[in-house]
Amino acid sequence: MKIIKKINEMQTMALGFRRQGKSVGFVPTMGALHAGHLSLIRRARTDNDIVVVSIFINPAQFGRGEDYKRYPRKLRQDYQLCKKAGVDFIFCPSPSSMYTQDYQTYVEVVRLSGPLCGRFRPGHFRGVATVVAKLFHIVEPTIAYFGLKDAQQALVVDRMMQDLNFPVRIKVLPIAREKDLLAMSSRNAYLNARQRKEAAILPEALLLAYKLVKQGERNASVVIRKMRGLIRRAKDAKVQYISIVDAKKLKQQKKIKGRILVALAVWFGKTRLIDNMLLSA
Ligand code: PAF
Repeated sequence: MKIIKKINEMQTMALGFRRQGKSVGFVPTMGALHAGHLSLIRRARTDNDIVVVSIFINPAQFGRGEDYKRYPRKLRQDYQLCKKAGVDFIFCPSPSSMYTQDYQTYVEVVRLSGPLCGRFRPGHFRGVATVVAKLFHIVEPTIAYFGLKDAQQALVVDRMMQDLNFPVRIKVLPIAREKDLLAMSSRNAYLNARQRKEAAILPEALLLAYKLVKQGERNASVVIRKMRGLIRRAKDAKVQYISIVDAKKLKQQKKIKGRILVALAVWFGKTRLIDNMLLSA
């Protein structure tokens, strides 16, 4: 496994793979890797000749007052995990090389970036789309792998790729979950013991939504109210949003119909967790 820090070195490697006709599987990450990332890496390993993982905590996707500075940095552990998983290249550029002093170009996916997390994290998806576009130009992947936990991110990236004609395919893999079904996230490490225990209420609330819809409930506000009621049982939990939207355009649904996404963001102290479930009604 080779660690590449320089952008031009990664670009030279990418050109080489292209010339040799090798397929490149790419897993973009911000590090602090967990089993969710590893499932993406394993899939990339199965599908491709070469596997590249990027580790870059992207300042452009963090708002003022968000957790950029305290975001977990576990490079040594990440290297070991990547090596064990059969990664060929780790690409970890410096923030100053990705965003030079005179940097002024951003990619914005206008409509899909607006609802859900976009309402509460203005500029977040602009930062994500920008860095993913940059990484795609540098790594030139054949297939890029994303997790469904960030369902809105996956839709934003997919739209950006189609709109800007990137010759990349994306694969979105299911949410990896802990034993108590809490969605795996690098941010789970921030939780104290009580918050960690309480956080299992989030998948429970999503399962409640699933049951209600399967039993025939079609009124989105009834489902959301019952989910809120359940989450209220966790003392440390503060709901930021619970939304029921259509799974493609993320338009708010009053009546539950067709393929929908039930998505939520909940604070536990200073830690913001997100989770979601796709459902068909
Ligand atoms: O999902 C993430 O870890 C990040 O948003 C990504 C896609 C690596 C872009 O910085």
